[in-house]
Amino acid sequence: MPIRFIDEIDVKGKRVLGRFDFNVPIKDGEIKDDSRIRAAIPTIKYVIEKGGKLIACSHMGKPKGKFVKELSLTPVAKRLSELLNIDVKMAPDCIGDEVLNMVNSMGEGDILLLENLRFHEGETKNDKDFSKELAKLGDIYLNDAFGVVHRAHASVVGVTEFIKDVCGGFLIKKEVEYLNNYLKNPERPFLLIAGGAKVSTKLGILHSLLNKVDRVIIGGAMANTFRKAQGCEVGESLVEEDLIPDAKNIMDLAKEKKVSFYLPVDYVMGKDVNDLTPMGTYPYQDVDSKGKILDIGPATLVLFSEVIKDAKTIVWNGPMGAFENPTFSQGSFGIAQVVAANEGVKIVGGGDTDNLIHSCKLEDKITFVSTGGGSFLEFLEGKQLPGLKALGLYD
Ligand code: 3PG
Repeated sequence: MPIRFIDEIDVKGKRVLGRFDFNVPIKDGEIKDDSRIRAAIPTIKYVIEKGGKLIACSHMGKPKGKFVKELSLTPVAKRLSELLNIDVKMAPDCIGDEVLNMVNSMGEGDILLLENLRFHEGETKNDKDFSKELAKLGDIYLNDAFGVVHRAHASVVGVTEFIKDVCGGFLIKKEVEYLNNYLKNPERPFLLIAGGAKVSTKLGILHSLLNKVDRVIIGGAMANTFRKAQGCEVGESLVEEDLIPDAKNIMDLAKEKKVSFYLPVDYVMGKDVNDLTPMGTYPYQDVDSKGKILDIGPATLVLFSEVIKDAKTIVWNGPMGAFENPTFSQGSFGIAQVVAANEGVKIVGGGDTDNLIHSCKLEDKITFVSTGGGSFLEFLEGKQLPGLKALGLYD
């Protein structure tokens, strides 16, 4: 059966078990960025306004099957109550008799938020018994957690074997439509901007998008591995030595496919990522062997801006440096401004890039900001994602 969405199902009086991605950054009990919660609101509102009983669930962090107080979803229940202006109740767990009793006493339009799914190891193991327990809580299964559709976990895949009515939410619908529509026949020049710390997490997308894009910009610490592969000095910077052959391959492939390939030409360096003042700016030919590359430099910002300016389609994943520290944020913030000013289609995704765009308050100037991190990358790689498969997307 092909994928169905929530507005194709009658939810009145039904218990809707809704999987969301409320894995938001929290510090000292306070939510630092609630965009993933806000992104789920249209689906949540739809269910309760149509008289459904919403049993919402999510993971938070990686507690590895144990209760971790700091990873409780209680702050999310509070935020949901504020955003929806109704009392969202918090369950003490995500399965078990006490939770089932709470579910059975719900009325139409009520919302109950289950506690962090990953407090049980059955969640990440896609365990059958755990999936069955979860399934007891719903007549309808709804998935609106695009951020986890690349995970074959119990609340994403296993549970769908035990609930007959399964559907996607409006966020999943939007993510799939936008990513498919804009990237199927992209307007050219088509530019990929890949940043962040590790080449390892970007190998798939680099390989798959090299067949489609006209230009690639590499920034962030992953650029160090490429420069090292060219024999350049990178000081004490982060490098994935074992991926140097892959970095070489990617550069060869880009050449073969006539894809313009851009690496940083200067850097802001520091002794440590937490430094309050940088060591200085260095051309890539003359880095200080005792320092760390922590941001792109001003000449790189000018170069990359030229490349970005006339691109008609841009996909951006990963920051240009250690942007959480203002000392090393100028490259990432600068690129964010230039991407925002571009008049083409701009698709941004990945946890850090998403935070970066929101912290610059540029989300309204971006065509589409995906809520996915790993799922965004794997979707663009063209992989079949288990969570979407379980909803019937590929049938
Ligand atoms: C994310 O933050 O990308 C999603 O919530 C998935 O989280 P995970 O990488 O811990 O599975």
